[in-house]
Amino acid sequence: MSEVVKLERHDEVGIVTVNSPPVNALSAAVRGGILECIKAAIADPAIKGIVLTCAGRTFIAGADITEFGKPPKPPGLNEVLAEMENSPKPIVAAIHGTALGGGLEVALACHFRVAVKEAKLGLPEVKLGLLPGAGGTQRLPRAVGPELAVKMIVGGDPIGAAEALKNGLIEEIVEGPASGGEAFVRKLLAEKRPLRRLRDDDSKIAAAKADRSIFTNAVAAMTKKSRGLEAPFAAADAVGYAIDLPFDEGLKKEREGFLKLVASDQSKAQRYAFFAEREASKIAGVPEGTKSRPVNRVAILGAGTMGGGIAMSFANAGIPVTLIETGEEQLKRGMGIMQKNWEATAARGGIPADAPAKRMALINGVVGIENVGDADLVIEAVFETMAVKQEVFGKLDQYVKQGAVLASNTSYLNIDEIAKATKRPQDVLGMHFFSPANVMKLCEIVRADKTAPDALVTAATIARKIAKVPAVVGVCDGFVGNRMLAQRGKQSEKLLFEGALPQQVDAVVTKFGMPMGPFAMGDLAGLDIGWRSRKDRGIKSEIADALCEAGRFGQKTGKGYYKYEAGSRAPLPDPEVEKLIDETLLRLGRKKRIVSDDEILERMMYPMINEGAKILEEGIAARPSDIDVVWLYGYGWPIYRGGPMFWADSVGLKHIADRLAFYAKETNDPNLEPAPLLKKLAAEGKTFASLAAASKAA
Ligand code: 3HC
Ligand code: NAI
Repeated sequence: MSEVVKLERHDEVGIVTVNSPPVNALSAAVRGGILECIKAAIADPAIKGIVLTCAGRTFIAGADITEFGKPPKPPGLNEVLAEMENSPKPIVAAIHGTALGGGLEVALACHFRVAVKEAKLGLPEVKLGLLPGAGGTQRLPRAVGPELAVKMIVGGDPIGAAEALKNGLIEEIVEGPASGGEAFVRKLLAEKRPLRRLRDDDSKIAAAKADRSIFTNAVAAMTKKSRGLEAPFAAADAVGYAIDLPFDEGLKKEREGFLKLVASDQSKAQRYAFFAEREASKIAGVPEGTKSRPVNRVAILGAGTMGGGIAMSFANAGIPVTLIETGEEQLKRGMGIMQKNWEATAARGGIPADAPAKRMALINGVVGIENVGDADLVIEAVFETMAVKQEVFGKLDQYVKQGAVLASNTSYLNIDEIAKATKRPQDVLGMHFFSPANVMKLCEIVRADKTAPDALVTAATIARKIAKVPAVVGVCDGFVGNRMLAQRGKQSEKLLFEGALPQQVDAVVTKFGMPMGPFAMGDLAGLDIGWRSRKDRGIKSEIADALCEAGRFGQKTGKGYYKYEAGSRAPLPDPEVEKLIDETLLRLGRKKRIVSDDEILERMMYPMINEGAKILEEGIAARPSDIDVVWLYGYGWPIYRGGPMFWADSVGLKHIADRLAFYAKETNDPNLEPAPLLKKLAAEGKTFASLAAASKAA
């Protein structure tokens, strides 16, 4: 008998229970166990109907992703599903938690499905660069019609039980999965309801067979944001086979598409990202079993750009916030922006109409730091000056209850110095959110010298609770993300002095898959900030300075490296900028040359990777995958390239080290000399990934 799947009999009902923690993924053992138990239930004359259910926190959450790329082990999932669908006795999937990917495909091969009301059902394979490979693209359209099927399969987001019920994906919402499933089977048997095999039921795809535009319109809507990705398009094609081909042929074509994607570089990168994200929440050097401190109430200092966005993230997750400002006016402004923001989302249908009011009610806006009250976590998002931060943390010491975690959202400042302003440095750390903070998923958790392990765990846990992806980093200028970005910034600026134009540099970067190039990003953030800081420090950057002197501060003035039409955020190349660059170069006696796109790409990416190597060497990041997580979720690095360190491994570290050495010489820039760690790995023919494997083994 199987270790992970059991068959019991309750009178005439056979109960097949999968029990393979943590998420009942379809490993070879689970597939084999299901097959064995279903066969036994069919063979047992006392059993008239069957329930398939799961123990633990969830129904089957999909194929076992760790098996991909390894030699396949029998039985194959399609073989198991065919046995189930062919069963002469009714099989009911009883779902709780998440029925995802192969898990939903198992449920679709059952004759009926019921679920608890909190359950979620989906085919998220595209998010791993895949398409459903066990009949999902053929059975789901037959269950819910092609429009919703395309939305779920090409978009990858799950739906809730209520929507599943409305669209015929489940028959009933039940209280408990196993008991509800059993009761449902008894009802079927009493009513002698005929089996429903989705394979044989074309009723819901008939309309799209007659009018294919129903399908193509749905695909067009769902693939709008899929630039650069292969899987959404292949997944859409597979749904098309359900409409155009007989079931068995469609199934065969789906399988071919799946096998092609499993072997693709994109899917490898996306699967890597899935595990990198989960790995990042395991904090290096924190004793196992370290528990989070309870966090029931949060106080945020500063209702500006960041404080407001952070407050929204907490309220979105239902966590009450005290939002603190220095004056009524600033407070009113901050609260107003949040309200407008939510109302705009509600107007677009992104959140329910009553959500803005409900969420605003969770935010208590007040003036004066003495109101931090009983907060369990304080996040400071005031002006970026050490003196101001230290003053604020000094006061926090006085007003905040003992044991609360004290976090700073600083982008660059030294958390050790900030911690010195309090008598409880063990409670101080960084929680560096990214703008817009209610949207961007990354939270760099900055570990200072004295930060206590349970304070770190608290920050990482609460970050996940508000749907952020935490990555723990050490103290240094700019932490991981901005420190690497600064290297790209230096090169993009230098490229203008050599003859490249902003639009050429940005085009190379966006073609690579980043959402924006460095110059468009500068225009968005505002060029005056850097200009003022350069002036303070007595630094010159002739082109950027000239732009600011001409009043070109970026989007906010309608002109920067680009020009912007009124009300538009679309950057338009501006001949005036070209002229200004030419004049500056002439004045400085610089010679222009033609800079190739290949060179631009190398000079944008390789210096960042070089900095990543330094970051690893200094222990600022514990694992290369943590750096990748920072870039995936903080800067929109294209998921199908896995992250800068993963991508570097695929390019080859020797090549990167050689090119850096070349550019160091060619452009007379010692800063570009390959870092010792990069040089060493390159010489040994190794990858960054080999470091992670070595640290795991140790
Ligand atoms: N295979 C292998 N391991 C998996 C897994 C899977 N499908 N899903 C989750 N895990 C592991 C995670 O790596 C993690 O391991 P760790 O504790 O060692 O880090 C553990 O299970 C718990 O996962 P989470 O931390 O993500 O737990 P949550 O409770 O936050 O989320 C979940 C649970 C919603 C199920 C989430 O894990 C998830 O989205 N999983 C992936 C689902 C998915 O993509 N399924 C489709 C797979 S492809 C497929 O099915 C192909 C088919 O069509 C043939
Ligand atoms: P902001 O200027 O928009 O907001 C700062 C707010 O803090 C202002 O409303 C101000 O009135 C308030 N404030 C000042 N002193 C205060 C005090 N003692 N108590 C309560 N409130 C006080 O600035 P922004 O952009 O929100 O930045 C805040 C912090 O977040 C900075 O440390 C910044 O470096 C960091 N950060 C900024 C990002 C960005 O893109 N803007 C990204 C990530 C971090």
